Amino acid sequence: MQPLLELKGLTKYFPVTGGFIFKRQVGNVHAVDGVDLKVGEGETVGLVGESGCGKSTLGRLAARLYEPTFGKVLYRGQDISTASRRELKPIRPEIQMIFQDPYSSLNPRQTVGAIISGPMEINGINPPGGHEKRVRELLETVGLNPEHYNRFPHEFSGGQRQRIGIARALALNPKLIIADEPVSALDVSIQAQVINLLQELQRDLGIAFLFIAHDLAVVRHFSQRVAVMYLGKVVEVGDRESIYLRPRHPYTHALLSAVPEATVEDEPRQRIRLAGDVPSPINPPTGCRFRTRCWKAQERCAEEAPPLIQLAGNREGHLTACHFPEAPTTSGEDVVLDPALA
Ligand SMILES: Nc1ncnc2c1ncn2[C@@H]1O[C@H](COP(=O)(O)OP(=O)(O)O)[C@@H](O)[C@H]1O
Ligand code: SF4
Ligand SMILES: [Mg+2]
Repeated sequence: MQPLLELKGLTKYFPVTGGFIFKRQVGNVHAVDGVDLKVGEGETVGLVGESGCGKSTLGRLAARLYEPTFGKVLYRGQDISTASRRELKPIRPEIQMIFQDPYSSLNPRQTVGAIISGPMEINGINPPGGHEKRVRELLETVGLNPEHYNRFPHEFSGGQRQRIGIARALALNPKLIIADEPVSALDVSIQAQVINLLQELQRDLGIAFLFIAHDLAVVRHFSQRVAVMYLGKVVEVGDRESIYLRPRHPYTHALLSAVPEATVEDEPRQRIRLAGDVPSPINPPTGCRFRTRCWKAQERCAEEAPPLIQLAGNREGHLTACHFPEAPTTSGEDVVLDPALA
């Protein structure tokens, strides 16, 4: 079946300029570098990785807010990375974004009604019963009081503002929502509520999600598939069980070890401390980009970039980019790294 969204060799470089008087390009930020990823109709794909790994850039490329340097973004098989404004017009409403910061992503001078109905008006969508009726319905759908139609964003809490952002995205009946760390700015107690809401919408409305997060805990209950990104590249991807129970890439192991609820038979999982920060994407390490922080790195890792492939013993569609992958289980047998998923 044709995927809803397909990224092929997707690459985004941002120019770095230097010089006092004459700005000239001195390099590139390799924000996203040759990513292949698919999202099926109605599917939820989690995209995780530390800050600076290129997740937001990837999301914006997929939503066609950025133009790629190389590669393609196919939506229902159509290459939208080179599409003209006119060709994009019917597609734009189908792909919506939810942003991390519910404070800056809503216009403070507009009422909630205007914020949610704006995109409908711009796109010439005239729902039966009019815009106001539809906005009230949407407010109800996202768990807000429809009577608050005339209020301004500052009258709402962070979690409520994020719900307004969700209602705005829903106004255009999207087929795909790209949610860029939609709960990272919220209190932990509110995060689960917003995730539950998104999960309900995904189930009830069949919307596909690309759900971006910086840790594996947040996307755990939400994603059917998970892609792990490091310094512009997808280093491991697979269905949820493969990633949480049988991760092969050292970076995935490190990210998983930080998930508090994941334990091996009531013993806390061995915690892997990642030394240092993500290196600069201006001069990414040669070969495997994770090698400067990888405890398994050998000479070959500096010389040869590991391809993203299905390793022996891995399930269909579970791909890993590593020359010396971790064993799929820690002690030979089927060790369940995360009992909640077993
Ligand atoms: N508009 C931009 N211009 C220049 N560099 C950028 C721009 N946007 C992002 N970057 C750089 O690209 C890299 C990836 O950023 P980003 O996609 O925001 O990562 P993430 O969302 O995973 O934190 C970072 O090094 C960031 O500084
Ligand atoms: S390829 Fe080498 S450096 Fe990269 S993750 Fe695998 S073992 Fe570590
Ligand atoms: Mg980001």
